[in-house]
Amino acid sequence: MSAEKPLALRCSNLHRYLGQGEGRVHVLRGVSFEARGGDVYAIVGPSGCGKSTLLYLLGLLDQPDGGEIEIAGRRMSNTDDAVRTAARGEHIGFVFQFHFLMLEFSALENVMMPMRKLGQLTPPQMEERARSLLSSVGLGEKTHRLGTQLSGGEQQRVAVARALANQPSIILADEPTGNLDVKNSALVFDLLTRLAKENGQAVILVTHNPEIANRCDFVRPMRDGLFV
Ligand SMILES: Nc1ncnc2c1ncn2[C@@H]1O[C@H](COP(=O)(O)OP(=O)(O)OP(=O)(O)O)[C@@H](O)[C@H]1O
Ligand SMILES: [Mg+2]
Repeated sequence: MSAEKPLALRCSNLHRYLGQGEGRVHVLRGVSFEARGGDVYAIVGPSGCGKSTLLYLLGLLDQPDGGEIEIAGRRMSNTDDAVRTAARGEHIGFVFQFHFLMLEFSALENVMMPMRKLGQLTPPQMEERARSLLSSVGLGEKTHRLGTQLSGGEQQRVAVARALANQPSIILADEPTGNLDVKNSALVFDLLTRLAKENGQAVILVTHNPEIANRCDFVRPMRDGLFV
């Protein structure tokens, strides 16, 4: 169906164990998955089935115990930290439930931070882009508010704008609408979907909300560390 769309991410036979000794758990038990630019994927499944663990691996924030991850055509196993960090900055945007903003900085500064790290724009260009991203999540009037002066839902929308800062080819979102009311859930979801379509980005989101899942292009149900 989407065979012509470029492959943004592929993983095959991923395994991950967490915990020590008696408490060691085989959390991911051979997960394979592909995501193409322009498509929105929902990963759904009961609490504890391994969804967040998988997103951490796909986002190169954690290393698998087995299997392979390919980002933008490059294999990520046996690469050093510098390569993984660079790939993360260039190709991946995160909207994680517990991936907090720097609360002592303004919304604008938070969104500019990934751009500063990547270093491809001038400061005025960074600021312009950050302003435009913040308006697209409905925070155009609050760009100079500090994180501490924003509500939980507003902080989450700043996190969405920040995830999009470097135009990543892959957006990973762990319950991106989890703390939002109906109106803002729709706003954030529509924004992510629109961007995926317009910019050919692959969006992979974990959600417990069936309405959100049903509006994605693909739904991947997970159970006990495997896609079913
Ligand atoms: N450090 C750890 N040591 C042992 N087990 C862990 C550790 N971290 C996570 N786990 C276990 O790994 C499993 C998968 O956790 P994960 O956070 O991926 O679940 P999830 O599908 O994201 O759940 P939720 O929907 O509640 O967010 C859970 O059973 C959890 O208890
Ligand atoms: Mg989780």
